[in-house]
Amino acid sequence: MIESILEKYPFVQRDNIIPILQDIQKNYGFLSEESIIKVGKYLNMPTSKIYGLATFYNQFRFEAKAKYHIRICNGTSCHINSNLIIINEIKKRLGIENGGITKDGLFSLEETTCMGACGLGPVMAINERYYTEVNVNKIPEIIEYYLNNDK
Ligand code: FES
Repeated sequence: MIESILEKYPFVQRDNIIPILQDIQKNYGFLSEESIIKVGKYLNMPTSKIYGLATFYNQFRFEAKAKYHIRICNGTSCHINSNLIIINEIKKRLGIENGGITKDGLFSLEETTCMGACGLGPVMAINERYYTEVNVNKIPEIIEYYLNNDK
């Protein structure tokens, strides 16, 4: 419940709401409209102000993640290692753009900043599982794995 998260921050100041938003995202995976409205009511701040603050930081998401959330690094080093070929292949196979979610709700895609494994790029992750030195020829196999193991 959003309320139980808010109760953990009884003395938070209006200019220090980031930890609350981080906590909500950690629990729900994204910041829903409902959650932002509740934060606004709790802190007596306009919803637009909360949105304004949250959108300033690119760590926050405003849409639900799919069951299998694909993050793919779009940092400089991975870019040099031809990550765009990987990104485009995933987009083509799943029929979604960055930030999108497949119609069946199975996959969502997020291009991220450096994922911290620059020497092993291109790097991508599906939920908590990381893939390094990703080769475009491996993409069908990786996606198939999740399709076949979906229960
Ligand atoms: S740039 Fe991709 S992991 Fe650092």
